[in-house]
Amino acid sequence: MRHYKKYIKKYGFLFSVAIVFLMIEAICDLLLPTILASIIDNGVANSDLEYVLNMGGMMLLVTGIGALGAIIRNIISSNLSQKLGAELRSDLYRKIQSLRLEEMNQFEASSLVTRLTNDVNQVQMFVNGLMRIMVKAPLVCLGSIFMAVRLNASISWVLLLVIPIVALIIVLNVKISLPFFMRVQKATDRLNGVVREFLSGIRVIRAFNRGRFEQSRFDEKNEQLSGTSMKAMRIMSIFSPGISLTVNFGIVLVLLAGGWNINDGQMQVGEVVAYVNYMTQILISLMMITMIFNMFVRARVSAGRIGEVLGTNNPLEVKAEEASIRQEGVVFEHVYFSYHGTGEYVLKDVSLSAKPGETIGIIGSTGAGKSSLVNLLLRLYEPSEGSIYINGENIRAMDSKRLREQIAYVPQKSTLFTGTIKENILWGKADADMDEIQHAASIAQANVFITRLPEGYDTQLGQGGVNLSGGQKQRVSIARALLRDAPILILDDSTSALDAVTEQRLKEALSEDGKGKIIFLIAQRITSVMDADHIIVMENGKIAGAGKHEELAKGNSVYKEIILSQLGTEMETSG
Ligand code: UTP
Ligand code: MG
Repeated sequence: MRHYKKYIKKYGFLFSVAIVFLMIEAICDLLLPTILASIIDNGVANSDLEYVLNMGGMMLLVTGIGALGAIIRNIISSNLSQKLGAELRSDLYRKIQSLRLEEMNQFEASSLVTRLTNDVNQVQMFVNGLMRIMVKAPLVCLGSIFMAVRLNASISWVLLLVIPIVALIIVLNVKISLPFFMRVQKATDRLNGVVREFLSGIRVIRAFNRGRFEQSRFDEKNEQLSGTSMKAMRIMSIFSPGISLTVNFGIVLVLLAGGWNINDGQMQVGEVVAYVNYMTQILISLMMITMIFNMFVRARVSAGRIGEVLGTNNPLEVKAEEASIRQEGVVFEHVYFSYHGTGEYVLKDVSLSAKPGETIGIIGSTGAGKSSLVNLLLRLYEPSEGSIYINGENIRAMDSKRLREQIAYVPQKSTLFTGTIKENILWGKADADMDEIQHAASIAQANVFITRLPEGYDTQLGQGGVNLSGGQKQRVSIARALLRDAPILILDDSTSALDAVTEQRLKEALSEDGKGKIIFLIAQRITSVMDADHIIVMENGKIAGAGKHEELAKGNSVYKEIILSQLGTEMETSG
C-alpha cells in the first residue's frame, strides 16, 4: 500500500471535507425517526396540531440539510475519484514506460492494459464508494443502534441477537469472495491477451485462415471470464438476502415484543414505529457495508495488481560508477548475455571495437545473436558479464537518455506509428525543418516514393490511413533514424526488404553522408556487408570471424559457407 501514500497525502484533505458532509447527511438520517416518534407519541396521541406542525417543519428542515450535504458530498466525491483515477493511470503509464524490457516481460502486455484501465477503475469506484457510504453506513448503523437503545432499552436483546449473525455473514462474504475476484481479474487479463494477439497478428491469422480458431480461443476465454464472474456474483448473492432475512426477522421480533410492551404500558406506539425505522436503517446500512466490502475486496485485488507494476524497481536509471577506458568509438569487452538472466547465453565472450568513420558489417545466420548485440548497445538489456563502452565511457554509467541520443537505430521490424509520414520521421529530431526531413528521406531512398503519394509527407499512416509496403516502411524508418544525425547508426537488417539497386543506392548515399559515423550494418546477405570496413561473422552467439571481406572469404569457414550458399562457387574463388 506504500505506493498509495502520495495520493492519500494529496487527496486526504478533500476526502475529509467530503466525509464531514457525509456525517451531516448521516446525522440528519438518524434524527428523523426520533422526531417521528415524538410527533406520534406527543403530537398525534395528544391531538396537539401545533406540535405536529412544528415538528413536521423540523423534519422538513432536517431533511433539507441532509439533502444539501448529500449534494455537496456528491460533487466532491465524483471530482476527487475521477482526478485520482486519472492521476493513478498517468503515473502507472509513466512507470510502464520506464520499465526495462525484462521487467515488461514479467507482465503480459495485455495484463498491463487491464491494470491500466480496469484495475484503476476498480480502485476509483471504491474510493468514490468510500465517500458515498463507507463512513456513512457504519455511522448510521452504530447511530441507529445507539438511538434505538436510548429510545427503549427493553427490547435491545433483539439487536444483540441480530448483530452477531450479520457480522458473521459479512466476514464470511469477504473471506470467500476475495479469491474469486482475483480470478476474475486474471480472466480479464487472459481475454485482453487474446484480443491483443488477434489484433496484432490479424494479417497472419487471415492468411492462415485461423479466424475460426481465434474465435474459439476468444469464446473460451470469454466464457471463462463470464463463468468466473458469475461464480463470484452467485456467491455474493447469497449474502445480501441472508442479511436482509436476519434483520427482517429482527423487525418481526420488535413488532411482537413491542406489541406486548405496549399492552403492558412499557412502550408507546411511536417508539415501536421509530424502533422499526431504526432497524430498517440498520438493515440498509448493513447492506451498504456488504456492498462496500465487496467493492473493497475487488479494489484490494486491483490495488495489489497496480502496486505490482508501481513497485517494479528499474535499476536501469541507477547509475553505477564504472571504470572507463581510453578508446574512441564503440567497444565490447568480453560480453556475455542471456535474456532470462540465467540459462544459456545468447552472446558468448563477444569483444569488438569500432572507430568513428567505420562501417561494421555484422553477418550470421538467423538466431546467431546479431540483434541481441545491438540491443545491448542500446541498453535495452544489460549484459550478464563484460562491459560496453562508447568513447571510453561505460554505458552502464551513462544516463540512458544521453546514451540513446548518440545512437540512431533502425529496428529489424519497422514500426511506424499512427500519424503522418512527416510526424513519424520527426521522431528522429522533433525540431527538424522540411529540408532536413527531405534530406534524410532522400538518403534513405524514401523521398521519391513519398512525394509520389497524393498527400506526400502529410499522408496519414496506421489506423484509418495508408499502409505502406514492407520496403517503404523500412525506408521511412531509416529516414527517421538518419534525421537524428547521431554519431552511431545501427541498421538491423534494415535493407532486407529493399531490392538490390535501391540497397546499393542507399549504401552509396550513406557512405557519402555518414562520414565520421560508426555504422553497424546487420544483414543476412553477403552483398549487403561485403564492402564494409570490418565484417563480424556471428555464429551461435559467438564471433566466428572478423576482418575484411577478402580475408574472411579466404580463411573463415563460416563466412565461406555463407558465400557458398548465397553466391555460388565463383565468388569463393574470385574473392
Ligand atoms: P537474435 O534476435 O539476436 O538473433 O537472437 P539474430 O541474429 O538477430 O537473428 P535474425 O537474423 O534477426 O533472425 C539470438 C537468440 O536469442 C534468443 C533467440 O531465441 C535466439 O536464439 N532470444 C531473442 C530470446 O531468447 N529472447 C528475445 O527476446 C530475443
Ligand atoms: Mg535480428
